[in-house]
Amino acid sequence: MDINEFIVQVALPEHRVFAEEIVTEMAESAKARGTGIAKRSPEYISNKMQEGKSVIAFHKDGSWAGFCYIETWSHGQFVANSGLVVSPKYRKAGLAKAIKNEIFGLSRKLYPKAKIFGLTTGLAVMKINSDLGYEPVTYSELTQDEEFWKGCQSCVNFEILKMKERKNCMCTAMLYDPAEKKHEVAKQFAEELQKKPKLYERFMRIKQRLVVKPKPNKTGLKALLFLFTFLFK
Ligand SMILES: CC(C)(COP(=O)(O)OP(=O)(O)OC[C@H]1O[C@@H](n2cnc3c(N)ncnc32)[C@H](O)[C@@H]1OP(=O)(O)O)[C@@H](O)C(=O)NCCC(=O)NCCS
Repeated sequence: MDINEFIVQVALPEHRVFAEEIVTEMAESAKARGTGIAKRSPEYISNKMQEGKSVIAFHKDGSWAGFCYIETWSHGQFVANSGLVVSPKYRKAGLAKAIKNEIFGLSRKLYPKAKIFGLTTGLAVMKINSDLGYEPVTYSELTQDEEFWKGCQSCVNFEILKMKERKNCMCTAMLYDPAEKKHEVAKQFAEELQKKPKLYERFMRIKQRLVVKPKPNKTGLKALLFLFTFLFK
């Protein structure tokens, strides 16, 4: 199976007809893995589609292939990309990765300042999250919003979470902090320039023309940023 056989998009209100199928697959997958899940109703999934806060994937033949949605906590300070599920017949083709990329982009667009986090027992999701820049964290670094933790009540491991006083459980917590990423982007930029000295010289020449010679202004800086993106694309 090839990833090009799929269409991954922000879910639209007309996709609500797939809510029942999605919820059933979420529950069956959780049962098959013998792990926990925060159960969701078809109405909840439908609302996410209505609000433009979910991503859906289809096979080219029109059949439903995968889904994931956005939740916000602590008044929008935290975002979770939850309920990731891929139809069993379409697994191991890179679809979960494509869905997570899309929902991550959507989350960054809708909530640029929010920390994005996830709780998971799955290796596939840990891998995908790491690629996106998430890092493993302790539960204390996640939202402390009671509503979020209520979602764990329907999980088979809830007793463990309670016993551990919410400090730990079977899931690994992972977090993407946009504030920290700014430093990382700067670091990557510096490393990239070091690896390509000719490009660095060119970059410095352009920078000088745009920023140093004329009075440094916002337009010049924006143009520089654009060039940077263009050069390293
Ligand atoms: C977990 C799930 C979403 C993965 O979907 P998928 O489309 O098969 O995943 P992908 O093909 O995009 O794989 C992503 C990566 O994870 C790896 N992977 C996929 N399934 C895996 C598995 N069961 N165990 C270990 N690694 C796995 C892939 O090899 C790939 O790694 P790579 O980037 O190094 O090649 C899917 O199996 C599923 O829906 N499971 C049931 C619901 C679930 O567990 N959801 C997650 C809740 S947190």
